[in-house]
Amino acid sequence: MSISRGVDAQFMQELKAKNNIVEVIAGYASLDKKGNTHWACCPFHHERTPSFAVNEAEQFYHCFGCGVSGDVVKFVQEIESTDFMGAVRILAARAKMEVPESNFDTEKAAEQKRRRDNHVKILLDSARFYLANLYSGEAEAHLQYISNRALAPTTVKKFGLGASLDFFSLPDYLAGKGYSRADLIDSGVLTESKNGKLVDTQAGRLIFPIINAFDEVIGFGGRLLEKSDFAKYKNTKESLLFNKSKTLYNINLLKKLKRTSPLKEVIIVEGYMDTISLYQAGFTNVVASMGTSLTKDQARLVKRYSENVLISYDGDFAGRKADLRGLEILKDEHLNVRVVPLPDGLDPDDVAKQGKEAYQACLDAAMPLIDYKLHSLESKYDLSRTEEKRAFLAEALKVVRTAESESEKEELLKKLRDKTGITYQSLERDLHNLPAEKPVEIAKPEAKEAGTDKYRKAERFILAAKLFSAPYAKDLDLSGIDFENSVHKLIAEYVIEHERAGERARPSELFEILEEDCAEFNEILDLNYGDKLSGPTAERFFLDSVRTLEKEKNARLAREYTRLFSEERDSAKRKELAQKIAYYTKLSK
Ligand code: UTP
Ligand code: MN
Repeated sequence: MSISRGVDAQFMQELKAKNNIVEVIAGYASLDKKGNTHWACCPFHHERTPSFAVNEAEQFYHCFGCGVSGDVVKFVQEIESTDFMGAVRILAARAKMEVPESNFDTEKAAEQKRRRDNHVKILLDSARFYLANLYSGEAEAHLQYISNRALAPTTVKKFGLGASLDFFSLPDYLAGKGYSRADLIDSGVLTESKNGKLVDTQAGRLIFPIINAFDEVIGFGGRLLEKSDFAKYKNTKESLLFNKSKTLYNINLLKKLKRTSPLKEVIIVEGYMDTISLYQAGFTNVVASMGTSLTKDQARLVKRYSENVLISYDGDFAGRKADLRGLEILKDEHLNVRVVPLPDGLDPDDVAKQGKEAYQACLDAAMPLIDYKLHSLESKYDLSRTEEKRAFLAEALKVVRTAESESEKEELLKKLRDKTGITYQSLERDLHNLPAEKPVEIAKPEAKEAGTDKYRKAERFILAAKLFSAPYAKDLDLSGIDFENSVHKLIAEYVIEHERAGERARPSELFEILEEDCAEFNEILDLNYGDKLSGPTAERFFLDSVRTLEKEKNARLAREYTRLFSEERDSAKRKELAQKIAYYTKLSK
């Protein structure tokens, strides 16, 4: 929760001053001014009537339809599907400002930037070179391979596929471009052979350029054209540009797709060819994790595009522990995850080749992970044979045990009953009697937020009244109130600090202080619309809220003294405590 996330605070202030949120948003959505608010149809969800409000005075937006809100930086982050620094760069370019590279060690940062810029050029030159090779008349084998894999010329162009012909033509080509040896090697494109010569790391392979969301080529995947003992695919080594665990293949085209309309869901596949085949078959909302099990960074990246993820890995991936972990990571990022069942032994590429309908049927059968586990388990047993049925059930119940809720368990048990003909009661008993396999996983201790709904509402209202300068809230000193909710506490501290300094608290500044997509803060922003803060009952509700919290604070004190009383043996002190209990109890009524 750093105040300015690594960027100089003064710079941020200037950046925001020079990028009026209304003008920036007008570049993406058509705004209609009514009173003090500019309205638009929300660019982040489908709607016909505008519920996306832009507040020019306070420099933030808020959508009543889908609940998103933020300042101008957040808006650019969302609409451009980029991160904080990415948005800062875009806005800086718009305002013709220089982004300060770093507050310290600027020389090192500048050197880093220089190297990165060079790598970008080297990668782009190489991609163009590979591309030209493919159509040079010397890449017969590559073209034959492409045609064997049923890729149409338009698809090949769309993905910028290329050909490496040998070890030396790329180094020769790049030599004429004036890059330093160090940059050529560090970029991962060339490597030093034993005799000191530079060689193409992808020699002979079919080239799949890996492109990031800013249309920079950051690496290559290269496929061997024939079966061999060498690894089938070789990826550019990790570099300043290429970090496989933070990248998704095809994120560049996904970004373009999202700009045409919000994405209902994103399909995640394993491989380059899976991606390209699905894309060609019309499933353009697809990215690849490039073989590895999904990482947290990849989960966050995909989340910028859609909340809904369809995992489309090779049939029978449920047996692979690493991949299951990847799915847990997606869930931890609060993505809705479903798994696309594929016939055993086939990958999405194989199914897409059978036709669009074939893959669509798989998509239509997508199911939650736990159902998928049972589904793939079932395919391994012949349930008509008693022995196998027993073995199946023993495994299946272990899966059922991992269900998150009792209702889910019940649902799964019913499915098992229907599949096996065993009664629900027996299955339930067997489930209970399963021997403990490993220490039962203890649910993560959810940060239990204190405060019931009532108190939270009261806290919210008081903070909104303060932040939006309701006249009746002017004289209230927030430091006399105990805010229970941690976000509310933070906001209160912010208001208190500003009031002490004689400044006005500005809600838009809070976007920088609070975590992204802070639900509590969004609720507070909601209160600023309509007449919730200014209507005839607003002041009354405000006073009631203050009173509610005061009472609760006194009740808490009474409880605390009661506890001390029960532990106190000294009679004089007990008497003193009893008086306090009576006092605070009275105030709490
Ligand atoms: P797969 O082994 O499933 O291959 O690897 P595939 O995608 O079906 O490949 P084709 O159809 O035979 O061409 C899935 C992904 O894992 C990564 C690649 O990104 C690949 O697309 N991978 C695989 C590697 O990086 N290196 C390898 O040696 C193999
Ligand atoms: Mn394949």
